[in-house]
Amino acid sequence: MAVGIFDSGLGGLTVYREIHAAMPDLPLVYFGDNIHAPYGVRDADDIYDLTCQACSRLFEAGCDLVILACNTASAAALRRMQEGWIPEGKRVLGVFVPLIEALTERDWGDNSAPREVDVKHVALFATPSTVASRAFQRELSFRAIGVDVEAQPCGGLVDALEDGDLILSEALVQSHVDALLRRMPKPEAAILGCTHYPLMADMFQEALGAQVQVFSQGKIVAKSLKNYLERHPEMVGPGTKLQFLTTGNAKSVSSQATRFLRQDIRFASA
Ligand code: DGL
Repeated sequence: MAVGIFDSGLGGLTVYREIHAAMPDLPLVYFGDNIHAPYGVRDADDIYDLTCQACSRLFEAGCDLVILACNTASAAALRRMQEGWIPEGKRVLGVFVPLIEALTERDWGDNSAPREVDVKHVALFATPSTVASRAFQRELSFRAIGVDVEAQPCGGLVDALEDGDLILSEALVQSHVDALLRRMPKPEAAILGCTHYPLMADMFQEALGAQVQVFSQGKIVAKSLKNYLERHPEMVGPGTKLQFLTTGNAKSVSSQATRFLRQDIRFASA
């Protein structure tokens, strides 16, 4: 019984951590495509091909359901995968929709017509490719009206976090927040639209100010997955082992991951 969690690299571990905390008995298989990270500067075809390959590997590892714990893949590839690639009996879900449901105060799967919501000015921080896709704005427009979104492509931040360079990461967060605030001085909410960014959540909050509500995906996605599995228990696949797989060098990815999550994580080669 296993559920797959996919990211281009280590960022999805912030989602893994919350899913594991919410459902400690659920076997999970994590796949980090570290050799090809970052995805955020790749084109959509490339991201689609890499994401399909990663999901195939997770299906092989005994997962029937895969969570794309990567906004870049959710934005650039998921819709195309759902339109024709996903094999029968398998499901692939992204991390955007649960976040937008939380922002627009909707229950899981509430597909009623878009309506006015409290929040009117939203800052979105994401990778260049997620920002270019406008997938966040598209999904939001299905659920809410009258919300102004200002998006900041946070170039360089994923590389700095993968490298464990906190000084550079802090400087990048500050300069990306400053750039956004010049265009939208008073956002009410900020979305950390990349699963690497929760590691810098405190820094985002400090740079934005205490009056801004910062949304990260980990807990939101864990809650929505729990709800989904209660409704679809058959989607827990046949795998039984907690595993961490990488396309990169297992030894060095393990030590980066241990530093990244501040807990011992052992990767094996995918
Ligand atoms: N963690 C991924 C995301 O949520 C992306 C990182 C990348 O650029 O590879 O978008």
